Amino acid sequence: MSGNRTWSGPAVIGALAAVAGIFGWRYFRSATADHELLPRGRALITGASSGIGEAFARRLAADGFDLTLVARREDRLRALAVELSAAYGVSVDVLKADLARDEDIARVSKVIEGADDLSLLVNNAGFGTRGNFSEVPLSRHLDMIRVHDIASVALTWAALPGMIARGGGGIVNVSSVAAFFPSGGGVTYTATKAYLNNFSEALAAELHGTGVKVQALCPGFTYSEFHETPEYEGFDRGKIPDALWMPAEVVVAESLAALNGDRVIIVPGRQYKGIVLAINSPLRGTIRGAAGAVRRRWHQRRQDSMIDSPAS
Ligand SMILES: NC(=O)c1ccc[n+]([C@@H]2O[C@H](COP(=O)([O-])OP(=O)(O)OC[C@H]3O[C@@H](n4cnc5c(N)ncnc54)[C@H](OP(=O)(O)O)[C@@H]3O)[C@@H](O)[C@H]2O)c1
Repeated sequence: MSGNRTWSGPAVIGALAAVAGIFGWRYFRSATADHELLPRGRALITGASSGIGEAFARRLAADGFDLTLVARREDRLRALAVELSAAYGVSVDVLKADLARDEDIARVSKVIEGADDLSLLVNNAGFGTRGNFSEVPLSRHLDMIRVHDIASVALTWAALPGMIARGGGGIVNVSSVAAFFPSGGGVTYTATKAYLNNFSEALAAELHGTGVKVQALCPGFTYSEFHETPEYEGFDRGKIPDALWMPAEVVVAESLAALNGDRVIIVPGRQYKGIVLAINSPLRGTIRGAAGAVRRRWHQRRQDSMIDSPAS
């Protein structure tokens, strides 16, 4: 066989046309696959007092959705409600609730069951912890399971009968790219997010044909208050490469644009799509091992610096 194989003109044009076609189709889909098919009505967003939840609230209010905002910091929710109803003329309710408490989950569920205009539920409330599993208080692990998983299951269960009866709606479960990296330093976090991914995929399959869409949104590092809680004291954003940080508004835009498509697991950002593709490749054992080693080294360095610190 000759090593000097040359491409003929028509072959090059055909290849270019194919590439242009793929990109054109993807552009067309992302430009048109908006949440237009989602019935306009009310969106209930948990964890709406900051970060990704607040970004959902701002975007959905601008799109004409009435809102119910849920979180513990009622003052924040009230200020947001006043701002959004004045700016967009939508009705915004505020519901103070601690989703780590069964009675508050039940109270929010009741509100959902009584909302005959609910078209979108965003299960977004969440938090992270730092440290190895046995160093983090058990109460924090159990709270995390309640906030991330038990609340999401209960609120989804409350929302579905009405959505199915009305012939449409959407459930967005805010998971994390961490769901793909079961590794030390965030054991319960990655496990609760992996649960959300599996839950969403199975539920979406079950709901096929009902008009109700389910999504597990898996962001990577996102600008929010997530890393500003006491547990993240000393966390240095600058140690994470800039390319890995995403604005909450971009995460929300990718989520809503994908809601009417067929994909359930949504990973915003090309960089994270690439990482998740790699992690699902045959090299996943090596990549997960390397990610685990980096994480362990960070954790060890943090512990060493705490021992060295005069404050400790
Ligand atoms: N930022 C990231 O890098 C990142 C990456 C991947 C996934 N995520 C996920 O994105 C979601 C939103 O986080 P974020 O980044 O926007 O962080 P954030 O700014 O800290 O927002 C977290 C929200 O959750 C609420 N929340 C926390 N605990 C709650 C509880 N017990 N009951 C009710 N509400 C509670 C908080 O409200 P109150 O404090 O007022 O209750 C706040 O509104 C989380 O599920 C998180 O796991 C974040």
